[in-house]
Amino acid sequence: MEMYTFSTKEQASAFAFELIEAGIKNGEVRTLGLATGGTPDKLYECMRKSNIDVSEITTVNLDEYVGLAPENEHSYHYYMEKELFSHLHFKQSYLPNGMAANLQGECDRYENILAEHPVDLQVLGIGKNGHIGFNEPGTSFQSRTHIVELTSSTREANRRFFKREEDVPTHAISMGIHSIMSAKKIVLLAFGEEKAEAVQQMINGHVDEQCPATVLQTHENVIVITDTLAASKI
Ligand code: GLP
Repeated sequence: MEMYTFSTKEQASAFAFELIEAGIKNGEVRTLGLATGGTPDKLYECMRKSNIDVSEITTVNLDEYVGLAPENEHSYHYYMEKELFSHLHFKQSYLPNGMAANLQGECDRYENILAEHPVDLQVLGIGKNGHIGFNEPGTSFQSRTHIVELTSSTREANRRFFKREEDVPTHAISMGIHSIMSAKKIVLLAFGEEKAEAVQQMINGHVDEQCPATVLQTHENVIVITDTLAASKI
C-alpha cells in the first residue's frame, strides 16, 4: 500500500481529486467506484467545483440501505444525487436498489453490472470496526454483492444522519469484499481520530476476516490517503 498523510481533510481530499482527475484525463478510469458517508464529502466538493468532463465515465456505488427509496433523504441514492449526480453528468450511474422485492435477485443483477463495468478506480472509506462498503467483521473475503445485517456499532455510527434511532435501517445491500477487490486501483480515504485504530489495523494487522480492511494488504494497487489524526496510531 502507498500512504499519503495530510494535515487536513481538505488537503487530503484535494490530493485524492487530483489522482481521480488524472486517471479520467489519461483514459485509465472509465468506470469509477464511489462511496458514501461523511468521508468523501470534500472529495465530491472538489469534483463539483471542477470542470472535469465525466460524460464518458460510468459510476458504480458500493452500497445502499434496504428499505429506503431513492427519494428518501437518508438513502445513498439521495446522497449521491445531492453531492454529485445533479452537478456532474456521468454517462451512467449505478447503485444497488434497496427497494427491490427480490433482494437476492438484486444482488445478482448488481454483480452482472459490475461484470459489465469492471471498476478501474474504487473510492473507499473505512468503518471504525474496519468495515469496507458495508462488509462487517466476519464477512468472507470471497463475498460478492450481498445482503448485510448491520452491526450495532455501524448503526450507531450512522445514527447521526437520522432523526430517530429506530429510523436507522437494519440491513443493506453491499458489494462484497471480492467485488471490491476486483477494482484495478483502490483509493481509501480516512479522516479523524475515530478512524485511527481501524487504519492501524488495516496497515499493520494480520490479514483477517475479523477486520475486513486488512484484505487490502493483498491488493497490488491501493493508495491510502488520510489526515494526521487518522494516521496517529500507526
Ligand atoms: C458507512 C458506509 C461506508 C463508509 C463507512 C464510513 O457505513 N457504508 O461505505 O465508508 O461506513 O462512514 P463515514 O465516512 O461516514 O465515516
